[in-house]
Amino acid sequence: MEISAPAREQARDLLNFIDASPSPWHAVQAMAERLQQSGFTVLHEDARWQLASGGRHFVIRGGASLIAFVVGSAPLIERGLRLVGAHTDSPGLRVKPKPLVSGDGLLRLAVEVYGGPILATFADRDLSLAGRVAVRAGDGIEMRLVHFGAPLMRLPNLAIHMNREVNESGLKFNKQTELPLVLALSGADALDEGRFHALLAERLGVATDAIQSWELGACDTQPGAFWGAAQEFIAASQLDNLASCHAGLAALLSVPDHESTNVCAFFDHEEVGSESATGAGGSFIADVLRRIAGSIGLDDEDYRRALVRSFFISADMAHAYNPNFPAAYEPGHRVAVNAGPVIKINANQRYSTGAESAARFMRLCDKAGVPCQQYAHRADLGCGSTIGPLVAAGLGVPSVDVGSPLWAMHSIRESAGVLDHGYLIGALSAAFAD
Ligand code: CO
Repeated sequence: MEISAPAREQARDLLNFIDASPSPWHAVQAMAERLQQSGFTVLHEDARWQLASGGRHFVIRGGASLIAFVVGSAPLIERGLRLVGAHTDSPGLRVKPKPLVSGDGLLRLAVEVYGGPILATFADRDLSLAGRVAVRAGDGIEMRLVHFGAPLMRLPNLAIHMNREVNESGLKFNKQTELPLVLALSGADALDEGRFHALLAERLGVATDAIQSWELGACDTQPGAFWGAAQEFIAASQLDNLASCHAGLAALLSVPDHESTNVCAFFDHEEVGSESATGAGGSFIADVLRRIAGSIGLDDEDYRRALVRSFFISADMAHAYNPNFPAAYEPGHRVAVNAGPVIKINANQRYSTGAESAARFMRLCDKAGVPCQQYAHRADLGCGSTIGPLVAAGLGVPSVDVGSPLWAMHSIRESAGVLDHGYLIGALSAAFAD
C-alpha cells in the first residue's frame, strides 16, 4: 500500500496533537493555540460580540468544549451554516476528590470509571496523570492544566497463577475494589495525608494549601506510533475522538476563502451522555450560533430560516472490521481500514443519518475524490450513539453521522488507518467549501 507524503504528514500531525492532549482540557488548549496561530481570536461568552464577514473566532466553555467559526462572505440567510461536530473526551479513569488509599505499605489512588473504557487495557501500562486543578490565587480561583509526563502510577495485573481462567474468561476488575492505582510506597499515615496535594502543588509550583479541587484522569505515556509492514496504520490513545477533532480543525483551517459560515464544535462529556452545560446536549452550540446570527444582523425569523439551510456533520469514529472476530459484525456492512470515511446508519436514530444527508455526504466525498463506506451495527447488538442525534434534535438541522474506521474503540491504545485521516480531512474540507 502506497501512503502519499501528505497523508503521512496529516497522520503525523494527528499523533503530535494527541501526544500534546492527554486530557480534554489539554486538547482544547492545543486547538486554541492552533487557532490563534491561524489568526482566530478568542471570544468570551460574558462579553458583547461584534462580528463581521470574514471574522475568525473561537469560544471555550468549561475548559474542555470549544466552538470555532469563520463568518462567511456569502449571506448566512442564503447559505446556512456548515457545521462539523466531535467530542474531546475519552473514557478512562478519573481521580476521586479524596483519592489516597493507604495500607499494606502502599499508597494507592482511588479512581472512578469515566464512560465505558475497556478496563483490561489499562492494566500494566505506564500511566500518568493529566487534567486541570483549581488553585487558590489571591481572592479568586485559577484553573491550571497539569500533566505529569513520565509514568507515575500503575494498575498491576494479577499473575496468571492466581487468575487461571484469565484467557478463557477475560480480565475483569471490580470497579470499587480492584482499580485503585499504585502511586507510592506509604510511610507513616500522617506523612501520607496530603501527599497527593503536595504532588500536585510541586508540579504546579504553588503552595500545597492552594490546591482546592481537580478533574484528573489517568493517561497513557506511550507516544502515538505508525505500525504495519508499510507503516499504513496508526496507534494512539484517544483516537476516539481526538482524530475527528483534529480532522475538523484541519479542514476548517484548510479552506482559503470561506463563503459559507463554517463552524467546528467540539464537546466534552460525550462519553457520559452529553447532558451538561458544556456537552452537546446543553445550550452551548445553540447559544453560540444564535449569537453569531444576531451579531451579523439576523433576527430570530431569519436565524431559523438559515438553520433550515444548514448542514451538520457529526464526526466520530466507526467500528472497523476485525477478521479475528467476524461474528461481531453485520456481514453486509463490514468497513475496512484505509478505505475512507464511514457513513453510520441506524433506523432507531442512534445515529442522525437519513437518506438525504447520507447522499449529501457521498457527494462531498465525490467532490473531494475520497472513497466512502456505509456501516450498520448488528441487529442483535446494542448500537452506540454520538452527538449527532442530540445536536440535530436541538437545532433542527439536517445531519449525518460519519467517522473514520477504528479498531478497539475505548481501549487505551486504539488503532486506525493512515489514509483514512487524510480522507476525512478531505471530505470535511469539501463540506466547508460547499
Ligand atoms: Co466517540
